[in-house]
Amino acid sequence: MKKTVELHARPELPLVIAHRGARGHAPENTLTSATLAHTVHADLWELDVNYTRDGKLVVMHDDTLVRTTNVEKVYPGRPSYRVCDFTLDELKRLDAGSWYAGRDQFGTIAAGELTAETLATFTGLNVPTLEEALLLTRDFDWAVNVEIKNHEHLIGHTTVTEDVLKLIRRLDMVERVIISSFQHRYLLECHKLCPEIATGALVEAVRPTDPVALCRELQVNAYHPDRLILAPGDLPALRDAGFAVNVWTVNDMDEAKRLIDEGASGIITDFPAACRTALGRD
Ligand code: G3P
Ligand code: MG
Repeated sequence: MKKTVELHARPELPLVIAHRGARGHAPENTLTSATLAHTVHADLWELDVNYTRDGKLVVMHDDTLVRTTNVEKVYPGRPSYRVCDFTLDELKRLDAGSWYAGRDQFGTIAAGELTAETLATFTGLNVPTLEEALLLTRDFDWAVNVEIKNHEHLIGHTTVTEDVLKLIRRLDMVERVIISSFQHRYLLECHKLCPEIATGALVEAVRPTDPVALCRELQVNAYHPDRLILAPGDLPALRDAGFAVNVWTVNDMDEAKRLIDEGASGIITDFPAACRTALGRD
């Protein structure tokens, strides 16, 4: 049984999925945000996969390194700061944690939820490879939602699904992973290359005319809608058809609770600890 699917199939256990780790209290997509998510008992964490110039899979949300690293300081004047224009060695020289204290994107620092000592530990965090992120997950006996970003624009990188699956298989982690993507072709490839791995269809901006039909067509296990495009009736229809539904990014805990009451199977949130409490998981 796929661990991730088994989790999704238990309605009495509304899943808490930590978006890019516990991103409300630690720098996103780092091993530190993952560790914090694990400490507060998130059921899974979510991460984003990108390619380096030398074809290595790394955990990074944006196409460029500017927002979440000190790349402009370390490599001043580079014509491009795209992840795919840096080798892994170059990426590993970056600090992916120091930006966090200056940004306070969720107001958690101003609210006194992070001590100066904790903030100091973020200095010098690095960009993890997908392999490092998966190994941490396995060490924790945990599960992860691997979101494959769109690589269609990268000439020569046509095998992202294959590369991700190869790694997951090598680490013997098929049952610990759910793969999601906005690029639905990747999900079909996943199903073809590794039918035993769980998959989830990410959708945003425009609600698909028929979410159930889409999930059937893509042969996925789950529907991952932006909270803004979930229509009344989608949740029961999808659950009745046997699909899990994990909604993102839900940071209002009343909304999280309402979505679960209406039938969602999981909540993807920047605040896994608060979400656990709101959903009565503590
Ligand atoms: O997987 C849910 C969510 O992460 C999708 O959007 O842009 O935060 O990766 P994004
Ligand atoms: Mg994501």
